[in-house]
Amino acid sequence: MKKRLFGITSSAAAAASFCALTLGAGLMPAVAHADSYIDMLNAMGGNPAEFNAAAGEKLWNEKRGPNHVSLKQCDLGLGPGVLKGAYAQLPRYFPDTGKVQDVESRIVTCMEKLQGFTPEQIAKEVTKNPFDKKGGNATDIVNMAVYVAHQSDGMPMEVPQNTPQEKLSFENGKKFFWYRAGPYNFSCATCHSENGKQIKISKLPNLVSPDGEKAWVAATWPAYPDSQGVVRTLEWRMNDCMRQQRIAEPKYLSQVVIDLETYMGIMAKGHKILTPSFKR
Ligand code: HEC
Repeated sequence: MKKRLFGITSSAAAAASFCALTLGAGLMPAVAHADSYIDMLNAMGGNPAEFNAAAGEKLWNEKRGPNHVSLKQCDLGLGPGVLKGAYAQLPRYFPDTGKVQDVESRIVTCMEKLQGFTPEQIAKEVTKNPFDKKGGNATDIVNMAVYVAHQSDGMPMEVPQNTPQEKLSFENGKKFFWYRAGPYNFSCATCHSENGKQIKISKLPNLVSPDGEKAWVAATWPAYPDSQGVVRTLEWRMNDCMRQQRIAEPKYLSQVVIDLETYMGIMAKGHKILTPSFKR
C-alpha cells in the first residue's frame, strides 16, 4: 500500500518535472500532445486504479444478492470461474443469453443468474447510475469490470469472430462507426479516421483499420484518465464520445456500444493488453 502510494506521487512529480523540462528547454515537439507523459506514467506504474481492481476482487468473492453467493462461478466465456484471459476475448457470443456481451453486461448476467438479482434491482443498483462523477468513487460494476480486465493484463487482445452473431456484432459496430448523425452530422469516423489528428493535446486514434495510428486503444481500457480522476471503462468512453458526436446518450450496456467494442477489439487484435492504464 505504502509503496504504491509512493509510486503515484513520485510519478506525478516526475511527470510535472518532465513537462517543465520539455517546455522550458524548448524541446517541445512541433505539435504538443499528451502521449509522451502518459507513456511515461504507464512505464512507471503505480496506477491508482489498482485499488479499484482490489475493490472489484473483494466484491467478486463476496456473497451477495438474494441467493447469497459470490461470483466465483461466473462464466465469462472460458468456463465457470476462469478469469485469466477472459477479458482478452470480450465481447463474445454467449449461447445461454443468445447475445454478444461485453465484460459489464456479462457480469450483470452472472449477478442475475448466480446471485439472483432481479431486473428491478439491477436497474436500480447498476444501470441507473453506472458511472461515477469525476473524482468520485467508481461504482461496484466498474470495480468488478476493472478486476476482471486486470486478469488479462499483458495478454494479447483476441476478440473472437467465430459465430455469425460475433461477425454481425463487428459489422454493426463498423456500420455505426461510419454512421453520420446529430446536429453536426458527425460520425465516429469524423474524428477517428486519419493519422496525426488531434483535438487540443489529445491524439485521436485512427480506428479505420488495424494499421491506423493507435488503432489498438481498445487494449488499454479500463483506464484511469487523469482528467477524470476516477477509473473508466470502454463503455464510459463510448458514452463520452457520443456526447462529443452530439448524439443521444446510449443506455448502459446497449448493444450498439457492445458492437462498437467488438469492432474496436478487432482493430486491436494481437495487441498486448495494458490495463488499468493511464490516460489524459
Ligand atoms: C467530435 C470528435 C469525436 C467524435 C465524433 C468521436 N470521438 Fe472518440 N474521441 C474524441 C476525443 C477528443 C478523444 C480523446 C479524449 C481525451 O484524450 O481526453 C476521443 C477518444 C476516443 C477513444 C479513446 C482513445 C484512447 O486514447 O484510448 C476511443 C476508443 C474513441 N474515442 C472512439 C470513438 C468512437 C467509437 C466514436 C463514435 C461513437 C467516437 N470516438 C466519436 C473525439 C471524438
